[in-house]
Formats: sequence, C-alpha cells, structure tokens
Amino acid sequence: MTFPILEDKVAIVTGAAMGMGKETAKLFAEAKAKVVIADFNEEKGNETVNEIKEAGGEAAFVKVDVSKSEQVQAMVKFAADTYGKLDVAVNNAALTPDDKPAAEFDEDYWDRLISVDLTGTALCLKYELQQMEKQGNGGSIINISSVSGFRPQPKNIAYVAAKHGVVGMTKVAALEYGSQNIRVNSVAPGAIDTPMLRGALEQFNLTEEEYAPQLSLLNRFGQPREIAQASLWLASDASSYVTGTTIHADAGYTSR
Ligand SMILES: NC(=O)c1ccc[n+]([C@@H]2O[C@H](COP(=O)([O-])OP(=O)(O)OC[C@H]3O[C@@H](n4cnc5c(N)ncnc54)[C@H](O)[C@@H]3O)[C@@H](O)[C@H]2O)c1
Repeated sequence: MTFPILEDKVAIVTGAAMGMGKETAKLFAEAKAKVVIADFNEEKGNETVNEIKEAGGEAAFVKVDVSKSEQVQAMVKFAADTYGKLDVAVNNAALTPDDKPAAEFDEDYWDRLISVDLTGTALCLKYELQQMEKQGNGGSIINISSVSGFRPQPKNIAYVAAKHGVVGMTKVAALEYGSQNIRVNSVAPGAIDTPMLRGALEQFNLTEEEYAPQLSLLNRFGQPREIAQASLWLASDASSYVTGTTIHADAGYTSR
C-alpha cells in the first residue's frame, strides 16, 4: 500500500514510457499525484497512461524529445495547462551508455548521448524551475544520475561525463533556488534489473548470482520500483529539509 503523500501535487516524469521512469510514474500516481508521462515513445507512453488510469490514477501523455528546447518548453506548458501547475519533476530520460574505450569513442554517439542525458536534463531543469518560480510555491525536482555519476566505468566515457554533470547541475540549481523553497536533488541508481542489465548478463555469459555481489552489498540487483521509492520520498514533503544532495540507491556500491 502506498500512502497518498503526493495528494494535490502535479508531477512530470520524463522517460516514463519504460523502465524506471514508468515505475516512478505508476508509484507517484498510487501516491495520488497527477502525473504527466513525458517521452518520445508515444505508443509505450500511452500504455503507461492507460495502466495508471486502469488502476484508478490520473495521468496524461505528452510527446517530447528532451534534447529539444521548444519541446521541453511545450512539455512544461502542457503540465500547467492540463493540471493547472507543476510541483514535482523527475528528469529521468536517458540513452543507453556508450561502449568504447576513451581513445576510440564514437563522436556521433557522444553528441547524441550528451544532448539527451546532459543537455536534455539541463533543459528540463531550466523550464521546470521557471514554472515553479512563477508559481511562487516551491517545488521538488529530482534528476536521475547513476553510480556512473560518482565512479568511473570502463567504455562509458560519454555516459560517465553526462552523469557526473547531472550531479553538478543539481547542486547549482539547489544553491540558486533554495531561497524559493524549490528543492533539487538527484538519485543515483546502481545495478537495476532492467532489460538493459539482462542484455549485459547475456553478452558476458554471467548469472545474477555471479555478477550481483560485485555491484551490490545486498548480493542482488535492484528493482525499478526500489528506485521509484527514493524519488517518491524526495518528491514528497517528507523530505522537506533535503536539497542539493544525492540518494545513492545502489546497495552500497559507492560506499566501498
Ligand atoms: N538501468 C540501470 O541499471 C540504471 C542504472 C543507473 C542509472 N540509470 C538511469 O536511470 C534512468 C532510467 O533508466 P532505464 O534503465 O529505466 O532506461 P530505459 O532505457 O528503460 O528508459 C529510458 C526512457 O527514456 C526515454 N527517452 C530516451 N531518450 C529520450 C528523449 N530524448 N526524450 C524523451 N524520452 C527519451 C525512452 O523512450 C525510455 O522510455 C536513466 O537516466 C538511466 O541513465 C539506469
């Protein structure tokens, strides 16, 4: 059972057509938020909306490519026009990490990944802050980083650079907007059981039992809903004295 700790709040979740973004949107709706499902995958985004509505929640889809400024502005306007305001945003949309060592990185993929994972997160932050500032009633923004925002991973130079950048921009925005009670935090997930991770296991011919202990003090992968729970706490007034920080939802990986 989820307590209605987001009652009367309006939330945007980017990248909510799949994976952790989808679980986050569903959990927020269970907590009684009105949720804007923002993604460039229209079909799967509408599936998320339907699942939320079938479960008795409130949600609406808006198509957005977070790397495009005018589309991000339209996304924020959509939330305000549809539900009257914006209280919470989870900037979660990102591309699959790159896969080459530093001396050989693919320059085209670097540009694409940076435009979504870094610039896209910054654009969302910019226009969400403008809306919250205009409303004058505070707000909570959660940027999704990664263990790669704190630790190097091999063959991930663009992803690691982008996720370190997400942590940095989170601190800057928290510093600048704290006086208006707009809180800005990040969540840094560890190894989460998504199709992406299952694909990597298959590629390297590993089982969860063999691989998980290297990444998790709990000897298992995380579930998308466990990451959503961290965002839910940051989104709610239960975390009212928390800003400029990161929740390391990584089963202790970065504690070593
Ligand atoms: N899966 C993991 O183990 C893991 C670990 C640490 C951090 N993360 C981070 O968590 C977040 C979610 O990861 P996931 O595994 O659920 O990803 P996913 O690939 O399952 O979902 C990403 C979603 O973002 C959307 N998206 C991608 N580019 C977009 C764009 N330009 N505009 C709008 N939507 C776009 C996709 O359509 C998809 O719905 C990401 O920020 C990722 O970097 C994931």
